[in-house]
Amino acid sequence: MILVTGGAGFIGGNFVLDWLANPKAEEIINLDKLTYAGNLATLASLENDPRHIFVHGDIGDRGLVESLLQKYQPRAIVNFAAESHVDRSIHGPADFVQTNVLGTFNLLESARAYWSPLPDNQKSSFRFLHVSTDEVYGSLKADDPPFSETNTYEPNSPYSASKAASDHLVRAWFHTYGLPVLTTNCSNNYGPYHFPEKLIPLVILNALNGKPLPVYGDGQQIRDWLYVADHCSAIRRVLESGQIGETYNVGGWNEKANLDVVNTICAVLDSLRPRSDHQSYSQQITFVADRPGHDRRYAIDARKIERELNWKPQETFDTGIRKTVQWYLDNPVWIEGVVSGSYRDWLKKHYN
Ligand code: NAD
Ligand code: DAU
Repeated sequence: MILVTGGAGFIGGNFVLDWLANPKAEEIINLDKLTYAGNLATLASLENDPRHIFVHGDIGDRGLVESLLQKYQPRAIVNFAAESHVDRSIHGPADFVQTNVLGTFNLLESARAYWSPLPDNQKSSFRFLHVSTDEVYGSLKADDPPFSETNTYEPNSPYSASKAASDHLVRAWFHTYGLPVLTTNCSNNYGPYHFPEKLIPLVILNALNGKPLPVYGDGQQIRDWLYVADHCSAIRRVLESGQIGETYNVGGWNEKANLDVVNTICAVLDSLRPRSDHQSYSQQITFVADRPGHDRRYAIDARKIERELNWKPQETFDTGIRKTVQWYLDNPVWIEGVVSGSYRDWLKKHYN
């Protein structure tokens, strides 16, 4: 079996669902703290599936993690657990240091304590896969080449600095202790079960609710968008065949300016669920104050994972965004469950 952390969040939840969609898949122990971003409704279809063992807890709880490792003896750990929202990291960085830095440290130490005394065959096949972000590389200028695995780390936000710190710890646990680690640095994901504090789900839901579509600054910041199922397949591939100690950049070859992303969502909604007044949803676009320290451009050079592990994304932005908008139209119950509590408080604090 494998231990997944943060498997009730957006990408971790998609990963667990994708993994267990294979009837022959190994069991998953899913350790998640259920912060505001963790949502068991995402995993509702697994309620009666004995291959999914959910544990409510913190990756920073050494006693808990060590007891899970001893009890279940997983052959791998896939670490998704993190505070993941850049804007929240600007308002309150402490949780980011706590989970992303100290939590990863605890997980590495627990993994090392479990892995060190394993018999040689289990020891060599064990993997610690750390899921990270392209934001650790900083911001690109318009004509810079995309980020490759050899770019220097130049994180600019509390979030990306905390992820960069965690990547460095993972690297050090390989070089110093020999722990068999793998790191993936991925670009912006989108798709089903995405919490609506992030640009794409926020815009879909605000559009449908007749609310403003907030675009930061001039809307010309560029992100490289990857459909979440493609990210999940990349992680599976790296787990199967990645070289220990290596990092792999994962991206969609889909660089888009934010304003183009928002206009594309509006156009898809105009065709799938036209406004009652037959005006375009793009009329709801509102330019708002920019994010402090806003990175201008991210782009991933994903040639290493393609060359060495034969992985390529399957979705284009056009196919992926259509599927995503359709998913939000088809899943009002999941959305209703999410649009409550701390999410509402966050909107008031941030956009007022
Ligand atoms: P998310 O915020 O949707 O989910 C994070 C999950 O981790 C939640 O279920 C939360 O409850 C859980 N969690 C938080 N702190 C925890 C702790 N201390 N112990 C146990 N569980 C805890 O995040 P996401 O968008 O799914 O991102 C998952 C990972 O992928 C993160 O490490 C993030 O840095 C990375 N990443 C995200 C993107 C993206 O576009 N969303 C892109 C590249 C990399
Ligand atoms: O690049 C990978 C990263 O992508 C991940 O590591 C992060 O966990 C993930 O949250 C995401 O970070 P971003 O900051 O790029 O994503 P977000 O959806 O918050 O914003 C995308 C872009 O849209 C960014 O340039 C800011 C802008 N934006 C965002 C919001 C929420 C707006 O213009 N308006 C908004 O209301």
